[in-house]
Amino acid sequence: MDNVKVLIVFYSRNGSTEALAKAIAEGAQSEGAEVVLRRAREFVSQEIMEKAPGWVEGAERMNALYEAPTPDDAEAADAIVFGTPTRFGNVSAELKAYIDSLGGLWFQGKLVGKAGSVFTSTSTVHGGNESTLISMYHPMAHLGLIIVPLGYADPSLFAAGTPYGASSVSGQNNTPPTEEDLAVARFQGKRVAQVARALKAAGETATKG
Ligand SMILES: Cc1cc2nc3c(=O)[nH]c(=O)nc-3n(C[C@H](O)[C@H](O)[C@H](O)COP(=O)(O)O)c2cc1C
Repeated sequence: MDNVKVLIVFYSRNGSTEALAKAIAEGAQSEGAEVVLRRAREFVSQEIMEKAPGWVEGAERMNALYEAPTPDDAEAADAIVFGTPTRFGNVSAELKAYIDSLGGLWFQGKLVGKAGSVFTSTSTVHGGNESTLISMYHPMAHLGLIIVPLGYADPSLFAAGTPYGASSVSGQNNTPPTEEDLAVARFQGKRVAQVARALKAAGETATKG
């Protein structure tokens, strides 16, 4: 069987969600997965972006590193991992716009049976990390993705993260994810790759009869 392909699509302005995405990529790669990292593009005006120090510079830096996601990326993947900073306890408009662009694939059932998982960053401890993660479960169910939660399947979950997906708390000064947060993210990447491989093998067995 070929290596599994893991698509990690995220939005990030200050780099916390990006750091989690990179740790998830490391975890998936440690399982032999081929990883594609994509950053959703801005959905607000330049005027809004200029309101906070670092937002324009951060977007320019990340856009130079990561291509914009396309529906073809999702179709080619065996697993799709969505990451977003929380926005009032919910998914960012930027990532949601990408998810909404998958309507054509939804109509054709093209994403049914792929693995799916989620991660987020908030600025405060109870600022909506779990509600943000679960808000992404809703479209994933419609798309037919096999949702991969983390549970407490790894000791790292007793120190950080959530059973729904990796998370970090950036505070008022854009504190990057801690080593404990990153350990959960790496575990998430490994687990998603393992589940995607099992689903792919089961699909190939079913096809071959
Ligand atoms: C419009 C807006 C809404 C936000 N809403 C919340 C929120 O509900 N709860 C929270 O803890 N942080 C909230 N934040 C803060 C970001 O989610 C947080 O700083 C996050 O760590 C940024 O991730 P990034 O570094 O990947 O951009 C909000 C930020 C913006 C700009």
